Amino acid sequence: MKKSHPSFDARGRSRDWRRVVLLGFMASGKTEVARALAQRLGWKHVDLDLEIERATGATVAEIFDRDGESAFRSLEAEHTPRALAAERTVLSPGGGWITNPGLFDALPPDTLTVWLKVSPAVVLNRLDRSEGGSVRPLLTEGDPESRVTELLASREALYARATVCIDTDHRSVAEIVTEVEEIIRAGRPAPLENET
Ligand code: S3P
Repeated sequence: MKKSHPSFDARGRSRDWRRVVLLGFMASGKTEVARALAQRLGWKHVDLDLEIERATGATVAEIFDRDGESAFRSLEAEHTPRALAAERTVLSPGGGWITNPGLFDALPPDTLTVWLKVSPAVVLNRLDRSEGGSVRPLLTEGDPESRVTELLASREALYARATVCIDTDHRSVAEIVTEVEEIIRAGRPAPLENET
């Protein structure tokens, strides 16, 4: 285990995490990890992009195209409190959610934030292989390699605010889920009733 465990404070008191928010770049695996983690914990999974698509009746790409990025960011800000209203929720927002001023600071204090770190090479490789996946409006213009590198560099300090960082290059979803689950269970006095 690392020097300081995220589920214990400096005095050794445990943290009873009630919510998880997964941060990280496009194609870092947030949605997949969130879905599997929620299932493992018996918690609810909310995917913010999907919530926004459901509420507006438009795809993320259509919103970007029609109303622009700032309109999409406003929708993220509007839908986040509702998405996190219930305890025992795992939220997977889009990769640019972290750029919304104030959203990270407004998270409930019992929220474990996890940065799923991914290298530009792995992002490009995953995007290359994802046929029929969602269109990423921020990567459609210009050279994808420099776009991913620049965007990732501009966001790294924001993602680094997360409670924990997990390097996801060459790691399976199951391994990542186990690592986050261990952190949550370590801070928990006893298993919750609906958990096995
Ligand atoms: C975005 C990431 C996307 C989606 C939108 C903007 C971003 O979500 O919210 O295209 O700014 O990084 P994923 O991270 O799930 O691809």
